[in-house]
Amino acid sequence: MVGKLMTALSIALCLTAASIAAEPHPPASHRIESLLARMTIEEKLGQLTQLPGGRQKAVNSRIDDALRERVRRGQVGSLLNVAGADATRALQRVAVEESRLGIPLLYALDIIHGYRTIFPVPLAMAAAFDPTVSERAARVAAVEASAAGVHWTFSPMVDVAPDPRWGRIVEGSGEDPYLGSAMAVAQVRGYQGDDLAMPGTIMATAKHFAAYGAALGGRDYDSAEISERTLNEIHLPPFHAAAAAGAGSFMAAFNTVSGLPMHANRPLLTGLLRGQWTWQGPVVSDWMGVAELIPHGVAGNGAEAAALALAAGVDIDMSSELYFTQLRAAVERDPTLLPLLDHAVRRVLAAKERLGLFDDPYRGADPAREAAVTLSAEHRAAAREAALRSIVLLKNEGGVLPIARTVRRVAVIGALADDSDSQLGSWRALGREEDVRPLLAALRERLPEGAELVHEPGASPHSDDRSGIPRAVEAARRADLVLLVVGEDFDMSGEARSRSDLSLPGAQQALADAVLDTGKPVAVVLMNGRPLVIDRLAARAPAILETWFLGVEAGPAIADVLIGRAAPGGRLPVSFPRASGALPFTYNRLPSGRPADPDITRDTVRYHDLPVTPLFPFGHGLSYTSFDYGSLAVDRASVAPGESVTISVTVRNAGRVAGDEVVQLYARDPVASVSRPVQELRGFRRIALAPGKAKRVSFTLTPAQFAIWDDGRWRIEPGEIQLMVGSSSADIRSRGAFRIAAEGEGHAPAAALATVTREETVR
Ligand code: NOJ
Repeated sequence: MVGKLMTALSIALCLTAASIAAEPHPPASHRIESLLARMTIEEKLGQLTQLPGGRQKAVNSRIDDALRERVRRGQVGSLLNVAGADATRALQRVAVEESRLGIPLLYALDIIHGYRTIFPVPLAMAAAFDPTVSERAARVAAVEASAAGVHWTFSPMVDVAPDPRWGRIVEGSGEDPYLGSAMAVAQVRGYQGDDLAMPGTIMATAKHFAAYGAALGGRDYDSAEISERTLNEIHLPPFHAAAAAGAGSFMAAFNTVSGLPMHANRPLLTGLLRGQWTWQGPVVSDWMGVAELIPHGVAGNGAEAAALALAAGVDIDMSSELYFTQLRAAVERDPTLLPLLDHAVRRVLAAKERLGLFDDPYRGADPAREAAVTLSAEHRAAAREAALRSIVLLKNEGGVLPIARTVRRVAVIGALADDSDSQLGSWRALGREEDVRPLLAALRERLPEGAELVHEPGASPHSDDRSGIPRAVEAARRADLVLLVVGEDFDMSGEARSRSDLSLPGAQQALADAVLDTGKPVAVVLMNGRPLVIDRLAARAPAILETWFLGVEAGPAIADVLIGRAAPGGRLPVSFPRASGALPFTYNRLPSGRPADPDITRDTVRYHDLPVTPLFPFGHGLSYTSFDYGSLAVDRASVAPGESVTISVTVRNAGRVAGDEVVQLYARDPVASVSRPVQELRGFRRIALAPGKAKRVSFTLTPAQFAIWDDGRWRIEPGEIQLMVGSSSADIRSRGAFRIAAEGEGHAPAAALATVTREETVR
C-alpha cells in the first residue's frame, strides 16, 4: 500500500516538479505574505478546507460547538450553506477574535437564481435573450445575500448543455456557447459589480469547469468524450468569458474529460485556466470531488486523491476534508509540495482580501439591512419583469392567445397550475413556497368581471393516476377556452435528475389527449426545466406557451401574458427535439457529406422514422404581433484580422400591437480547413417596437469571432463568411456575406467574444 501511495504521489510530484517554477504566482499583498509566513501547516490546510455549516435546505444547521472549536483552531477557511446576518456575524466573531491569526471566514451558498427573491430558473432567463435580465437577477441576489452575510455564490453555471436529458440544463443557458458566454458575463457582473469590495456584492463562481454538460447520454456525472475542438469551441467559451469578466472563483466539475477527472486535470486547471488564460482566483472542488478521485480510479486512497487534486490546481476542498487530514503527511514527506500549498493558500487569502474581509470581516452582514432588502417590493418587481421576459410563445394558431375578452368560462386544467413549490425550480437558496404567487390566483384576479374560472388538476407530473381525467374533461366541455397546464415538477430537472424519456411525465399525456378530444380551443401552458418532447401536443393544440419555472412572480407574469397585458418575447435557448431518441440535437451541427433530406428514399444523415428538423428550433419564439425585416447591409466586403465589419438590418413591427423581437445573427464559414457548423449564433438584440415602428439594428464583428481551434491556437482563416439574420435559427429573413482578407490568430475562444450591438429608431 505504501509503495502504491508513493508511486501516485511521485506521479503527482513529477507533474509538478517540472512545472512548479513555471506555476503562475498568485497576486499576493504584503498582508498575505506576512500571514503566510506566520501560518502553521495546519492553519494553511485550514484555509483550504471548506465545511458545510448546514444543509442546502437547512442553512446553519451544522453550526455547533464542535464547528466553532474548529474555527477557533484555524482549521476552517470557508463554509457553505450558511446564511443570515446574525448567524454569520456570530461565527465570524469566533474566527476573527478567537483564532490565533484572526483570519476571517468566507461564507458560500448556492444562490443560483435568487437568494430569497427567487427569479426564473437560469434556462428561463437565458430565454429572455437579454443579458440585462440575468445581470439584474444576479444583482438582486447579491444585495440580499450580502446583507445576510453571504460572500460567495456557486453561480453562474456556465456549462453548455447539448443534451436536455441532462437534468442540469435547467441551471445554465442552454446549448449555445455564444449565448452562454453573454449570460456568463452578465451574471458575473451582476454578482460582483465593478469591485468586489463594494457593498452589495458577492463573489461569483464559474462552474463546473469543464465540459460537465457533455455527459455521455445526458447522464449526470458521466464522462465527457469530446474532441479538443468541441471542448474549446463549444464548452470552454463561457468559462473564458466569465474569467475575462473577472469571476472571483471557479469550481471543478465532477466528470472526466477524455479520461482525466477534472479534479485531477492539471492541463485544464493549471495549464489552460491559470496559464494561458492568466486567471488568478481560487478553484474550489465540487462537493466531495477530491475524494471522488478514488472511485474515478485515479487515486488509490485519500492521500493520493488529495495530492493529485492539489497538484492539478484545486485550491479548496469542499467537504471531503482530505486536504486537512492527508496533505500534512504528504508535504512532510516531500517538501516540494509546499510551494503548491502556499500558492493555494495565497489564492484563498487573496479572495478574502478582494472581498474586503480583512478590513471588515462582517462585510455588509446587517440584520436591519437584511430585513429591509429581503424580498423587497423592488426585488419582487425585478423578478416579475424577469419572469415576463423569459416566457416564450411557441405556437399560436388562430390567435387563441391572448385570451379574448369574449371568453366567459375558462377551464384551467393540470396540477401544475397551482404548484407554487415548482415555480422555485431546482436550487432555491432561502426561497419559500409561500412567497410564490401561483398562476391560478393571478388568473382569477385578472379575468374580466363576470368571467368564470374552474380548476381541475386532472393529472400530475409525478403520478400515473388517471382518476381525475374525467372531471377535467367535464370542465373542458363546459368551457369556452381550456388552459392546459402541463410539464415537469421542480424535482424532475436539476442535479442527478437526468431523464431518458422527455415526453410528458405521469398521466399528463393521457390528460392532454382527453382534453384535446373535446374539440375545445386549448392553450397549453408548459412548465418545465428543460425542453420536452411534446410532438403530440404540438400537432393538436393551437397554442403553446413555454413558461419554464419563473420564480416568486410566476403567476402574475404568466397571467399577464395570457390576457395580453404583456407580450411574450422570449426565445428558445435550446432546441426542442421531436423524440428523446433524437438527442443530442443542436442547431449548430457540422454539415454532413450527405445533408439530411426529407426524401426518405435517399441515404442522408437522418433517422428513417423522424423528420429531419427539431420540433421547435433554437431561437424560436413568437409574439402577438409580427415583424418585417429589410435587407442586410454589410459595411465592407473585406475585413483583415484586427479590423471590424458592421452588419445592419431594419426591423419593423408590422402588426397592431406592441411587441419585442429578438433579432438574431448567425454566421457560417462555408469553406475552411475543417468542417464548420452550418450556423453559429454571433449576435442578438432584443428590441421593443410599437405598432408600425421600426428600428435599425447593427452588429459589429471582428474576424477573431470566426477563429478555428487548431492544434492549440485560434486560427483565423481567410475566405468568405456567410451571414444570416432572422427571427430564429430556422427563420432566416435576410442574408449577406463578407470576406476575411488574410490569415491571423485569435487569442480567445471565438464564441466568447462579444459582438457589439446597437439599435436606433428609424423615423
Ligand atoms: C454539487 C453541485 O454539483 C454544485 O453545483 C454545487 O455548487 C455544490 N454541490 C455545492 O452545493
